[in-house]
Amino acid sequence: MESDRARKEEIEKFDRTKVGVKGLVDSGITKLPRLFQTSESVSEDNDSSNVQIPVIDFQGVDLGGSRRLEIVDEIRRASENWGFFQIVNHGIPGAVMDAILESTRRFHEQPKEAKMDLYSSDVKRVIRFYSMNRNHERLYVLGWRDCFACVFSDGVVNPEVIPHVCRDGIVEYVKHMKDIGETLSGLLSEALGLRQDTLSQMQYMNSLYISCLYYPACPEPDKTFGATKHTDPTTLTILVQDATGGLQIHHEGRWTDVPPIPGALIVNVGDFLQLITNDKFKSVEHRVLARAEGTRLSAGCFFYPSSEQIAGREHGPIGELVLDDSPPVYRAVDYIEFTTNYHKFARTEHSPLSNLRL
Ligand code: OGA
Ligand code: NI
Repeated sequence: MESDRARKEEIEKFDRTKVGVKGLVDSGITKLPRLFQTSESVSEDNDSSNVQIPVIDFQGVDLGGSRRLEIVDEIRRASENWGFFQIVNHGIPGAVMDAILESTRRFHEQPKEAKMDLYSSDVKRVIRFYSMNRNHERLYVLGWRDCFACVFSDGVVNPEVIPHVCRDGIVEYVKHMKDIGETLSGLLSEALGLRQDTLSQMQYMNSLYISCLYYPACPEPDKTFGATKHTDPTTLTILVQDATGGLQIHHEGRWTDVPPIPGALIVNVGDFLQLITNDKFKSVEHRVLARAEGTRLSAGCFFYPSSEQIAGREHGPIGELVLDDSPPVYRAVDYIEFTTNYHKFARTEHSPLSNLRL
């Protein structure tokens, strides 16, 4: 077994190259570097049955009436039982979705010199390129992938800070994400049996960041993951994936594929939403398989609270969801403590949320 210290040094050495996983691939490696090797089984526990995460048709969601009620009910069931669902006919033009994936490709396929200045494992940077995450001295491997992330605190967009190669695609996509985020915040509130404006009044989805993810082909895909298993820390995630496949969620003890559906968006509950809903909605573990050939592209949009809600306020289960037969499951925490706790345990065997249970 490799020592922790040797591993830490190996990670830091890789991080100092500032070229990411794609840089390793471009240098012609034929073996997987040890720091990416996983002790988990890559192929066991895969679900061979045909169960599939729910697909919800958003046609008619704005019209009110009975179709909206049906959609609310489908979202409730999916968020309680799966933590994941796909949505179709959501109104975001196909060209906008193609453009965010194309922007992702363009960013990552620039010459390395154009990206190196943005390389950082510091989670506090609002624009950064990275393969590793660092928080409170813990530096950890995310998987056989590179990420380019842009943070829009309170939804404020300053296009100037985004590199030219991907600026327009990202700015346009963020506009649409804000709209669909509002729609989902209303639907999720109703699905919880609360007033439609509850989550919006609480400002729990007012900020967002976009992760443009690039999963290069991997020389030994059976020894690593594109993304190691994790839950998302934030309130809600909306993801667009290309046609490559590889995303899996842990459902009823097995790994179940999230099959690519052209034009669909994948929506999933994050740890923060599980906490404020007092476990009513579930934040589910997921991962991405690595593959021998071809590049996988995806773009995640992660919604989290406004800066006002992050500054020194504590958040626990929503009062109306705490009832006599459903006492609070979590203690109240401020959001900084919440994310610090997440990074302390993310990608370990210990679930970050369980640490906050009463
Ligand atoms: C993530 C994630 C999945 C994907 O970035 O949190 O789960 O398909 N991504 O890229
Ligand atoms: Ni995720």
